[in-house]
Amino acid sequence: MIETQLSELAAATEARIAAVTTAEELEAIRVEVLGRKGRLAEVSKDMGKLSPEQRGVVGKLLNAAKQTLETALTARKTAFDEAALSARLEREWLDLTAPAAGAGLGSLHPLTQIQAEIEDLFVSLGFTVLDGPEVETEFNNFDALNIPPDHPARDMQDTFWLSNGHLLRTHTSPVQVRGMKKLGPPLRMIAPGRVFRNEEVDASHEHTFYQLEGMMVDKDVSVAHLIYFMKTLLSAIFKRDVTVRLRPGYFPFVEPGFELDIQCLICQGAGCPVCKQSGWVELLPCGLVHPNVLRLGGIDPEEYSGFAFGLGLTRLVMMRYAIDDIRQLQGGDLRFLTQFAF
Ligand code: DAH
Repeated sequence: MIETQLSELAAATEARIAAVTTAEELEAIRVEVLGRKGRLAEVSKDMGKLSPEQRGVVGKLLNAAKQTLETALTARKTAFDEAALSARLEREWLDLTAPAAGAGLGSLHPLTQIQAEIEDLFVSLGFTVLDGPEVETEFNNFDALNIPPDHPARDMQDTFWLSNGHLLRTHTSPVQVRGMKKLGPPLRMIAPGRVFRNEEVDASHEHTFYQLEGMMVDKDVSVAHLIYFMKTLLSAIFKRDVTVRLRPGYFPFVEPGFELDIQCLICQGAGCPVCKQSGWVELLPCGLVHPNVLRLGGIDPEEYSGFAFGLGLTRLVMMRYAIDDIRQLQGGDLRFLTQFAF
């Protein structure tokens, strides 16, 4: 009796296994027939009621049925797994020989490019490139540059003060002080870097911009040396003739001090927001180093003299590429930046 039932169950199940169309249906059959509470388990539970001889026969049949069905299940399961895998491979198809999609290479910021050019020029003229901290002491940023606390020139540069009494350097000039102490006379140094002013931001003012400081100290350095180096610098930068003018300029750390202006290259002198409608752009304040500054840098002004200049790197980039809004430079807009890729 039970033998017929068993072989019918096995045959029916085998047929169902052969007919399933999904892995889920297959799993349902496995649970129903071979599972812990499945149909075969029920049969083995009932075996206790059989005689020992019958039990032997049914036990064998039961094992054989189990084995057959498990083999059939595994075969179908493998087939489903393989089908799923090849469907996935089809979906995730990858051609290793295809050319790569655009790699999105970055490029140097125009400020970085111009800085590197000027550094190369000055290195070829025997100058050392120095770096100074952006957080400076009040002494290096002001006092050592002949700007004592009550000096009106402090108001010329709106300063970001830090709660510990230090400040964000308002210019690269404090690196002159560090340079004199580090190198000693005679010396030739430049110091490019970021500077900060507590300014209202507009097309020509930023709270953060770049300068490049220069200083040369030696015996008998004069205005003639200063003019020679400034002309060499400007013709190298603009690779063409630019119209310049020299005006007296006041900076406490130089005497005499000058303002070297160039005619605005954006409007050719006609007047625009960058040159504040004047046709001229202040580019290169400079002068002969004040004796007090040399002294505070540990250099004897009786023996040595020097010149210094503070180039507005940001403004220079704007002139060179005819950029009429300073905010573009730090704005991070890729549409702007990718124009300078080379
Ligand atoms: N530090 C000045 C500024 O930021 C610029 C400057 C003027 C630098 C004259 C110099 C100099 O070295 O000689 O306004």
